[in-house]
Amino acid sequence: MATLALRLMVAAALLATTASAYPAAPPKNRSSSCYPRLFSFGDSLIDTGNFIHYSKAPGSVSRPPYGRTFFGRPTGRWSDGRLIVDFIVERLGYPYWPAYLQAKSPATKEDFRYGANFAVASGTALNQLLFQKKRLDVSGITPYSLGIQIGWFKKVLAAIAPTKKEREEVMAKSLFLVGEIGANDYNHPFFQNKTLGWVKPLVPKVIRSIAMSIEALIGLGAKTIYVPGVFPLGCVPRYLFFYRGGDAGDYDDAGCLRWLNGLTGFHNDMLKAKIRDLRRAHPGVSITYVDYYDEIISIITTPAPNGFDPAKVLYACCGGGGPYNANLAIKCPDPGAVRCPDPSKYVSWDGLHMTEAAYRIMARGMLDGPFAKPPIMARCNRKY
Ligand SMILES: *[C@@H]1O[C@H](CO)[C@@H](O)[C@H](O)[C@H]1NC(C)=O
Ligand SMILES: *[C@@H]1O[C@H](CO)[C@@H](O)[C@H](O)[C@H]1NC(C)=O
Repeated sequence: MATLALRLMVAAALLATTASAYPAAPPKNRSSSCYPRLFSFGDSLIDTGNFIHYSKAPGSVSRPPYGRTFFGRPTGRWSDGRLIVDFIVERLGYPYWPAYLQAKSPATKEDFRYGANFAVASGTALNQLLFQKKRLDVSGITPYSLGIQIGWFKKVLAAIAPTKKEREEVMAKSLFLVGEIGANDYNHPFFQNKTLGWVKPLVPKVIRSIAMSIEALIGLGAKTIYVPGVFPLGCVPRYLFFYRGGDAGDYDDAGCLRWLNGLTGFHNDMLKAKIRDLRRAHPGVSITYVDYYDEIISIITTPAPNGFDPAKVLYACCGGGGPYNANLAIKCPDPGAVRCPDPSKYVSWDGLHMTEAAYRIMARGMLDGPFAKPPIMARCNRKY
C-alpha cells in the first residue's frame, strides 16, 4: 500500500511539473467545438520546443533574451514571445499544446488531446540527404524534414485513434497547418554562399515535397488544411546584411532585395498553382493558401498603424550590430549584441525570425482574414 501511495505521489508530482511547463492560455473564448485538434508542421517560425528538446547544442534559442516578452524564459521558441501557432491555439481555446518531442514516452491519448506541433527549427521541405548529396554542410540542417514530421504524425494518429472509425473522425475534424516550410531549403544554401542559380532549381522540388505531404494528410482523411507561403526573404535583416552594399537598383521601394523577393514570389506562385491542382483533385477538402508574403510586405510598408517603428522595420531588435543590426558573427544572446528596448516596435526579432508583435498580426491575418480565404475562424464564428 505504502509503495503504491508513494508511486501515486511521484506520478502526481511529475504531472504537476509537466503541466507547469505549458502555462494554460486564458480560456476566454472556448471554441474547440469548431476544431477539436490542431496539427502543425514546419520550421522555426512555429517550432514551440521540438528543436530545443532533441538538440544537444541548441545554442541561441536556449538563452535569454529569447522568451523575454511572454514566457519570461527561453522555451525553444525563436522569438521574444508567442509564435503564430500560440495565437491560433489561444483562439481555439486550447492550452499551449506540447511540441511533439516534449510529450512523454510512450505518449498517451491525453498528451495529444488538442493535437500536436511537429515543426522543427532549421527544418526543410526536402530531405537532408538531398542537401548532403549536393555537398552542402548539413550540420546546421535538422534531419527532421517535412516528410519525417508527417511520419511522426502517423504515429500519433495511430495512438490517439486506434480504430478506422476513430481515425476518420479525428482527421475530418482536425485543423492542419502545413508550413510555412521551404524558407530553410533556400536559407541554408544561400548562407553557405550558393548562388541564385544553384538555389532556384530547388523550388519545384520543394513544392513537390509540400504537395506530397498535403496528399498524405488527405489520404488519411484530412478535410481542412492551411498552407502558408514563404515570407519575403529579401526583407529579412540577415539577408540584407549578408548581401549588403549592392547597387541602388538591387533594392525595391521598401528597401528589400528584389531578386530574393523574386525567388520567394516564384516559390509562392508555384505553391498557389499546386494548391489549385490539389483542390481540383480533392473537391471535398478545404485547402487554403496563407499569404505570409503580402502580410509581411503590408506590415513593412505601413509600419506605424501596427505600432512598429518606421525607421527600424528592416532592423533586427536583437542582433550583432552593423547594417540592419544583423551582423551574423554575433548572435542575439552573445555579449556584444545590440538589443532594442522594446521588441513590440520591431518586426524582426533576431534578424531571421519575427517578434511576437509581428507574429500576432500574422496570426490574426490567418484567423480572421484577409490573408487566408476563408480565414480559420470563419467556421468557428458561425452560430450552431
Ligand atoms: C562564404 O564566403 C565568405 C566571404 O568570402 C567566407 O568568409 C565564408 O567562409 C564562406 N562560407 C562558406 C560556407 O563557404
Ligand atoms: C471570441 O471573442 C471575440 C471578442 O469577444 C469575438 O469577437 C469572437 O467572435 C469570439 N470568437 C469565438 C470563436 O467565439
